[in-house]
Amino acid sequence: MDACRRSSRETIRPVVGDGQVRKHMDISGRTVLIVGGTTGIGRALAQRFVDAGSTVVVGGRNIEQVDGVETVRIDVTDAASVAQARDEVLAEHPDLDVVVTMSGVMLTEDLRDPDHIAQAETTISVNLLGTIRVIDAFTPHLLGRGEGDIITVSSGIGFLPFPLMATYGASKAAVHSYTESLRAHLAGTGIAVTELIPPAVANAGQEKLNPNALPMGDFLDEVIGLLTQNPTPKEIVVERAKPLRWAEHDDTYQELLAARSQSLSNLPGR
Ligand SMILES: NC(=O)c1ccc[n+]([C@@H]2O[C@H](COP(=O)([O-])OP(=O)(O)OC[C@H]3O[C@@H](n4cnc5c(N)ncnc54)[C@H](OP(=O)(O)O)[C@@H]3O)[C@@H](O)[C@H]2O)c1
Repeated sequence: MDACRRSSRETIRPVVGDGQVRKHMDISGRTVLIVGGTTGIGRALAQRFVDAGSTVVVGGRNIEQVDGVETVRIDVTDAASVAQARDEVLAEHPDLDVVVTMSGVMLTEDLRDPDHIAQAETTISVNLLGTIRVIDAFTPHLLGRGEGDIITVSSGIGFLPFPLMATYGASKAAVHSYTESLRAHLAGTGIAVTELIPPAVANAGQEKLNPNALPMGDFLDEVIGLLTQNPTPKEIVVERAKPLRWAEHDDTYQELLAARSQSLSNLPGR
């Protein structure tokens, strides 16, 4: 990578919203809701906040299997469920000041088969509309406090498609774009908006799909390091995610996309 490209990335990273440079995020003594925190990255991130001294509630549909942390039942595809969860959490934790929109589904699709629309609809409903519903539910509360953090979760795949998960990539590109607009809307309110952009991270589902996925502990070490860096970057991009996040910028996009398209040969009949 030449010096020009590197300096251009650097200017993008530390600046937020309307040009203000933000301070680092405190992860101790916060009251945190992680929607999509019942398993995987969300559950592991919850533990890091707990270990740092924060109070954490994790949300999802399947809360029975969650041990060691407070839970709230929430289905982000259902507006009434989101409203009920919001009311329950704020009644118990009126000092809530961090909301993480982690809920996501990662579904493969065969775009030659129109039946894939079912996966596409679920993906948009959970990953994109679910993110928007949760943010809408808690934004008035955070505005009322005049401070807080919203952390959205996109994916490296939002920046460099993985064609086997076409709508997934589209949903995460949309989460990225929405996050950029949200940050502009909330500039000057005291609410910081941060986008977490994971690469492939090893949890139960991903191990089979990608044996090269980053171990969860290594991923979270880097994530916490970046969140607590001063200033906190507006995007949390661990080293493994950088080739994806910056592929277009680095001129590696077409080559990487062609390599990632090889996965389509796994589909029946290809
Ligand atoms: N792992 C990776 O390699 C990777 C890479 C890039 C981005 N990401 C993103 O990181 C986030 C977490 O992924 P993960 O790998 O940790 O996956 P995961 O273990 O499958 O976790 C997904 C979470 O989303 C929740 N969820 C799914 N549907 C929901 C719904 N309708 N309402 C509420 N919650 C729902 C699940 O909870 P319930 O089942 O309890 O509802 C679970 O807590 C996702 O947004 C994913 O797209 C992951």
